Amino acid sequence: MNFPAALRVRLEQAGQAHVLQFWSQLTAQSQHDFSQQLLAIDWQELAELRRLIAVRKETDSVRTADDQVQLADDLSTAVTPSCLRLRDAGNRPTPVDAIACGSSALRAGRIGAIMMAGGQGSRLGCAGPKGLYKVGSLSEASLFELLLGKLVAVKRRYGCDVPLAIMTSSATDTQTRQFLDDHAHCGLNPAAVFIFCQRDLPALSPATGCLLLEAPDRLAMAPDGHGGMLTALASSRGLDWFARQGVEHIVSFQVDNPLALPLDPEFLGYHLLTKADFSTQVVHKKDPAERVGVVVKMYGVSRVIEYSDLPVALAAERLSDGRLRLHAGSIGVHAFSQKFLDKAAARSDSLPLHLALKTVAVFDNAGNPAVSSTPNAFKFERFIFDLMPLATQVCVIEIDAAEGFAPLKNRPGSASDALEHVRAALLSHARHILQKAGVSVAEGVSVEIDSASIVDEDDIARLFAPGAHIDYPLIISNSNLTEPK
Ligand code: UD1
Repeated sequence: MNFPAALRVRLEQAGQAHVLQFWSQLTAQSQHDFSQQLLAIDWQELAELRRLIAVRKETDSVRTADDQVQLADDLSTAVTPSCLRLRDAGNRPTPVDAIACGSSALRAGRIGAIMMAGGQGSRLGCAGPKGLYKVGSLSEASLFELLLGKLVAVKRRYGCDVPLAIMTSSATDTQTRQFLDDHAHCGLNPAAVFIFCQRDLPALSPATGCLLLEAPDRLAMAPDGHGGMLTALASSRGLDWFARQGVEHIVSFQVDNPLALPLDPEFLGYHLLTKADFSTQVVHKKDPAERVGVVVKMYGVSRVIEYSDLPVALAAERLSDGRLRLHAGSIGVHAFSQKFLDKAAARSDSLPLHLALKTVAVFDNAGNPAVSSTPNAFKFERFIFDLMPLATQVCVIEIDAAEGFAPLKNRPGSASDALEHVRAALLSHARHILQKAGVSVAEGVSVEIDSASIVDEDDIARLFAPGAHIDYPLIISNSNLTEPK
């Protein structure tokens, strides 16, 4: 096909005509698909992305120790905000009141959830959705099954669906939908599941700010960060979908944390009773090198500082009692009032763009896949936690990491957040719940909790006589006690 003349002019004007270098070698179908991708470019947005790169380069070239000192100065005024602690009798409101309030909101169907499942899982080396990754050591249940199972269990206990929106991206959408179809939505009511896809943004060359080719007929693109949730949810009418079902508060959680506790009634209760429009769960960060952002209060405003932005020396600063000064480690579990999200979605400037230098598969000028060992592209992302400074009332709730945080980030054998550690955390969590219900497990024996049927020790207590002892590998579920296949 002939390339659309007006589009060629547009590309030339924007200095991007190099993306057509392989045009004449493409099949008719590829030409059609590629021209569709090029027609979809938002030129104003591209100009803004290029401007951000120029600004970054300018500040980098004049970046002196002074800039670092300024950031460190700002952060040196930052403090860890005061936190409520989950299961802490000293809290005001009390845990009893919080649990009663959160439970009644769940029973009334006022709570919805969003699972962030658009990330590419590049550190994990997984091509498709991270949610397909099998983490159950006996059941081989995937992250999707473990996390969606929790919503099934909540429905069983409170008698009401928790409407769930799943955010996918172009990298994860098809396989996620397929998985849900193949697995009967993991036991959820399909009418209570809404899948929406976040946008992609072009990856750009750090040297020239130009578009990059991922293939001769395709631009290199990347998901626009989990903050893309705000515009994608609004444009897909997801916010209306929640509202139609009577949802007033929405919790969001990350697909990579199988222990996540977004629907814990006590957490929800604190969010509701403190009238927060943004609540967030944190864990006590102990090691400065831990790759978690920190919640801080700076000039009176609460915000999350991403781990990559936190100067090493500040991250390592300790209080006189030995704790890290900035120790409120963000785990990506947030609760928002629907009103707050509606308002933020209506503003175009709610979330800033962050640039990150990343390694991206590209095609070189000679038409070969170019494998780069160093970062070769700027990707652009928005972070949902950047909404925090816009909130009037923020509530920070510290949870015990053993109870609610075991993220899967890296390849086996590579780091503390790799598969073997996630499995060990799931096992010790299962043992702990059993122990709370008075059930002991023999040393070295694996047990797994079926997340779709067991919420806590009360469910276990209904299955086992007090003092019971487990001495063989067992998947514990409400319907039966299953020995692994
Ligand atoms: C993230 C947080 C970090 C936090 C840590 C806890 C960010 C920027 N950083 O770090 O503060 O301490 O988790 O584990 O969030 N996702 C999308 N779409 C995207 C990008 C990501 O849905 O475009 C989802 C991923 O699927 C994942 C989650 O967001 O569920 C986190 O993304 P990831 O890139 O893994 O963030 P981390 O660097 O691990």
